[in-house]
Amino acid sequence: MHLSRLILSEFRNYTQAELTLGPGLFLFCGENAQGKTNLLEAVGMLATGNSFHASNDREVVKWLAPDHIARIEGYVQRREDALHIEIALFDPTPALSPTAITRYAMPETPGSAVLPRKRIKVNGIPRRVMELIGQMNVVFFAPADLHLVDGSPDERRRFLDRALCQIQPRYCQALVKYRKVLTQRSALLKRIRDNLEEARMLDYLDEQLTTLASYLSYERRQMVTLLNSEAHLLQLAISGGREQLEVIYHPSFMLDARWTSVEAIQQYREQLNSIRKREILQGVCLLGPHRDDLEFVVNGVNLLTYGSRGQQRTAALAAKLAELAYMRASTGDEPLLLLDDVFSELDHTRRDYLLQQVMQHEQVLLTTTELHDLPAAITAQAHLYQVREGRLQAL
Ligand SMILES: Nc1ncnc2c1ncn2[C@@H]1O[C@H](COP(=O)(O)OP(=O)(O)O)[C@@H](O)[C@H]1O
Ligand SMILES: [Mg+2]
Repeated sequence: MHLSRLILSEFRNYTQAELTLGPGLFLFCGENAQGKTNLLEAVGMLATGNSFHASNDREVVKWLAPDHIARIEGYVQRREDALHIEIALFDPTPALSPTAITRYAMPETPGSAVLPRKRIKVNGIPRRVMELIGQMNVVFFAPADLHLVDGSPDERRRFLDRALCQIQPRYCQALVKYRKVLTQRSALLKRIRDNLEEARMLDYLDEQLTTLASYLSYERRQMVTLLNSEAHLLQLAISGGREQLEVIYHPSFMLDARWTSVEAIQQYREQLNSIRKREILQGVCLLGPHRDDLEFVVNGVNLLTYGSRGQQRTAALAAKLAELAYMRASTGDEPLLLLDDVFSELDHTRRDYLLQQVMQHEQVLLTTTELHDLPAAITAQAHLYQVREGRLQAL
């Protein structure tokens, strides 16, 4: 699939921007703080309804925008059909203008000043975030992703979740629900610790927790299994045949691949019971997908502890490219590849390898501060744009 048109208004530092795109390589170059990452963020939001890094939707609304509304519009060409996605994001802090209120008020409360934070339409029909996810797929690759191996476990979980959420709305729903249960359960654990509630009150939440957790872990393990064969080949190729990579999924509780889902839930429940006292004492949930991790092993050695920086980066790159292949295989269509300033962080071999993959891809949006950081093969083929102070100019 590819994005054929992108329109932004009052989004981050863009007042108004329009881009005609298509299959191929699009290169956005500009100095720091000009709007390169913002542009990719907008494209990512079309796919997931949420920002890759904003903690709050309100953040993306351009400061001092007259209507306090940011809009992102995209036309997507998929293998079988086309989509028109519109997202409007509101900054409810300042008072909204009367025109904004009549334009975006909820249909069920006409004229009401109570507005949602975000309105989404797909082909003109209002949709919820959950219904948007999966319509358009992206793989986002930023310098932080090169720390997939040596960064925090949180990032490795996010890596799994990002891909799984995009290809399986059901996973995304379960994850949201799981997080809610987790919050409720932690609060309850603290109340039990403080003798405000009885321990048996946990039973009901544990029931939900175990079902959701088993499902999430099952899907994560499936993904890692599929990811592995591809990542293995990539690491081998990038390292000139020297490095055998294995990605191992470590759920925070004991989980045997041979167990049925009923057995898995049963086992998880028993493990939960056995640590109940400790959980109450600490007032936190100690077992579950929120504590999962991934281990990267090269030639039998753990990369986090013993890998060189180079090996860690190769593995991160291999994992990201494997994610791309995984999404392609799962959806039957090519996701968009968004590369935010990653070439400058890679050495020659890895750069060439990434480049080779990039050139074969249907659509790639790539940002850089330094054009000559990029191999000539890329710049010669790319559609070039200059990004300056939230404005795009074809070069
Ligand atoms: N809501 C916003 N309104 C206006 N400007 C913003 C907003 N959010 C971020 N910016 C500006 O966007 C710029 C950063 O853009 P970014 O895309 O991260 O730059 P880069 O080109 O380095 O990737 C900064 O100048 C920042 O002040
Ligand atoms: Mg940037």
